[in-house]
Amino acid sequence: MILAGKRLLITGVITKDSIAFHAAEQAQKEGASVLLTSFGRVRRMTERAAQRLPEPVDVLELDVNREEDLAGLTAELDRRWGGVDGALHAIAFAPQDALGGQFMTAPAQSAMAAFQTSAFSLKALAAALAPLMGPGSGIVGLDFDATVAWPIYDWMGVAKAALESVSRYLARDLGPQGIRVNLVSAGPLGTVAARGIPGFEQLAELWRAQAPLGWDTEDPLCVARSICWLLSDYAQGISGEIVHVDGGFHAVGAPPTAAAASETGRFRDPAEAPGHRNRRRR
Ligand SMILES: NC(=O)c1ccc[n+]([C@@H]2O[C@H](COP(=O)([O-])OP(=O)(O)OC[C@H]3O[C@@H](n4cnc5c(N)ncnc54)[C@H](O)[C@@H]3O)[C@@H](O)[C@H]2O)c1
Repeated sequence: MILAGKRLLITGVITKDSIAFHAAEQAQKEGASVLLTSFGRVRRMTERAAQRLPEPVDVLELDVNREEDLAGLTAELDRRWGGVDGALHAIAFAPQDALGGQFMTAPAQSAMAAFQTSAFSLKALAAALAPLMGPGSGIVGLDFDATVAWPIYDWMGVAKAALESVSRYLARDLGPQGIRVNLVSAGPLGTVAARGIPGFEQLAELWRAQAPLGWDTEDPLCVARSICWLLSDYAQGISGEIVHVDGGFHAVGAPPTAAAASETGRFRDPAEAPGHRNRRRR
């Protein structure tokens, strides 16, 4: 059990579909003690999900944009555990007018809201937890590859680029305390947040066509396991890193040609390959 004895704070659970739920479930299976956070209207939903973990857990209050909540979180974790060994930042939000193909018209306020909740918040959470963390501890955030521009992702994509940078600065500033900071760059997964992005299915379809290992938008297990690994001692010496858990999508520039895909067995019948003129719809 790679997380035996570790005390982990997991943010970002709304439902059983949330990536963070699967991370919490895997972390418990690997021996970790877990606490969740939530806030406002969705807190009830998080509490329901918390009861469905292998070991039901408590939910602490955290709106990551509220200083009072961050201070309260530090105090509560100190009271309960006296220290923290790891944390998952699985928090993102962008107003509807900053997504879905509205890049050119989104107001500055919406872009800034996306930045604050989705990128600056990694620093805010890290600052709240750092006083409780020591050598060997780690923080993991969730990224969507921000090295290129995507359809529909718009200002959330810009916020993810900022998140990538924030994680490197945190690695710089928290490294001397022995705290590691890394990101998992995941392929598209069918969660509440993702389905709320108009055109999500378009991105999902790209992945299904192009990821060399294939990609199942309904299966976050590989992402959850990589989060656990990064929070474990097996990732000692790794900080400021972005691990792509995306079926290998980031490494290839285009979908396989029908002939190549057929040869490698990916699509036994060339007519099944993406982009084939007579591709059969399944
Ligand atoms: N689903 C995907 O396709 C995908 C792919 C790559 C990265 N990610 C990232 O994974 C992370 C988790 O998202 P998810 O897809 O599991 O969706 P989700 O909707 O289940 O989780 C998003 C979480 O962010 C929380 N949140 C929003 N504003 C907050 C605030 N002010 N304070 C505290 N929490 C707040 C929500 O309560 C929710 O729990 C996000 O960072 C997302 O960008 C998702």
